[in-house]
Amino acid sequence: MMHFMADKKNIPFPSPDNHTFTFIDLFAGIGGFHIALQNLGGKCVFTSEWDTKAQKTYENNFGVLPYGDITKPETKNAIPGGFDVLCAGFPCQPFSKGGFRNGFEDTRGTLFFDLCEIIEKHQPKYLFLENVANMVSHDSGNTYLTIIKNLDELGYYLPNEPLIISPDKFGIPILRPRVYIPCVRKDIAKNNADKIKNIKIEIEKQYTKTVASIDTILDASIKSKITPHELKILKMWDEFYKGVDLKIIGFPIWMEYFKHQGLLDEFPLWKAKFIQKNIDLYTRNQKFIDRWLAKYDSLEWCTNTQRKMEWQAGKDYESIFDCLIQFRPSGVRVKRPDKFSTLVAMNHQQIVGKYKRRITINESKRLQSFPEEYQLSDSNTVAMKQLGNSVNVTVIQKIFEIVLKEFS
Ligand SMILES: C[S@@+](CC[C@H](N)C(=O)[O-])C[C@H]1O[C@@H](n2cnc3c(N)ncnc32)[C@H](O)[C@@H]1O
Repeated sequence: MMHFMADKKNIPFPSPDNHTFTFIDLFAGIGGFHIALQNLGGKCVFTSEWDTKAQKTYENNFGVLPYGDITKPETKNAIPGGFDVLCAGFPCQPFSKGGFRNGFEDTRGTLFFDLCEIIEKHQPKYLFLENVANMVSHDSGNTYLTIIKNLDELGYYLPNEPLIISPDKFGIPILRPRVYIPCVRKDIAKNNADKIKNIKIEIEKQYTKTVASIDTILDASIKSKITPHELKILKMWDEFYKGVDLKIIGFPIWMEYFKHQGLLDEFPLWKAKFIQKNIDLYTRNQKFIDRWLAKYDSLEWCTNTQRKMEWQAGKDYESIFDCLIQFRPSGVRVKRPDKFSTLVAMNHQQIVGKYKRRITINESKRLQSFPEEYQLSDSNTVAMKQLGNSVNVTVIQKIFEIVLKEFS
């Protein structure tokens, strides 16, 4: 099997003829790191990704078929020597308890251990790791601590405090915090160690003051609409919100408990508190709610989750149709309309209230700052999963641009 083929014609992102540095793309997904680093003058010299659908998407865009399982010796042995940057958005796994007593050994059996082996063997000038934001608190902080201690022992400087950044900081209307660990080999950083330790200061200088309107990523020409059933549910909750005496609703609305009469001590305390708030809301607004229930046939035509509503849009919006909405297992969730939240599977995608439609795959692609010419999988479900796993290209590019400016 050819992993690095001669540049194919008609691929959107062929390997550049000129480059100023080389990188390898591990846990590559669909190549978010690849686009960002190539934009900065980099040339990818090795890729590993074991998911066959992601491999295919990667090949369609970059003309190279990624190697598979990175834990396999034959994959590791295929990594060429002398590359400058190692990129990896690796999955978060727990390490052995007890922290860092045995150093490297504590990470044995995890993908981070494999990463460390590669780093130790090749000692690239830079590392650029990425993970979900709650990796920092994972296992009471043990996971993050073990990672940074290992990277330090392997000879790298890295940010003093966890670098958690969401694309909205760069003006992109999506809230998607991730932890980034850019590292510089100690001999390269020399007396400039503080520049990487305090890189957050430089990054923050690049933050934009405002976030672009969601309309900048939405296609005005899209005609699709939510179903009549979904629209009826939204109209129903819209009327409810407008009719009750609360504008900031700090608890989930659970219609089934409005008229609850039994004891609450059979419920866990957190749930009992929410039920009591629902009972109080009903009692205060009984006349309106009884009319609303009668109009909507006591919500008998709704599923259990559609009978619940979570207003998380504060008090500045008068109507559900001014907001972003998501049909979630926990209920119909209403959020402020200024930023999308994390990308999810297709049918859970956020609905833009004012347009009464879900965002599309192409719009999700823009939210991840993938270029228009990027070719996603033909299957919407696969494409959405891949985008949901991916990094935001702009965030990667902004961070690494600063690293390059300071150290190359
Ligand atoms: C969080 S995603 C990273 C996505 C990537 N940064 C992007 O921009 O699309 C982690 C990826 O690691 C891949 N992966 C997990 N274990 C692997 C292994 N042992 N070898 C190769 N790839 C692996 C998964 O299939 C997944 O695509």
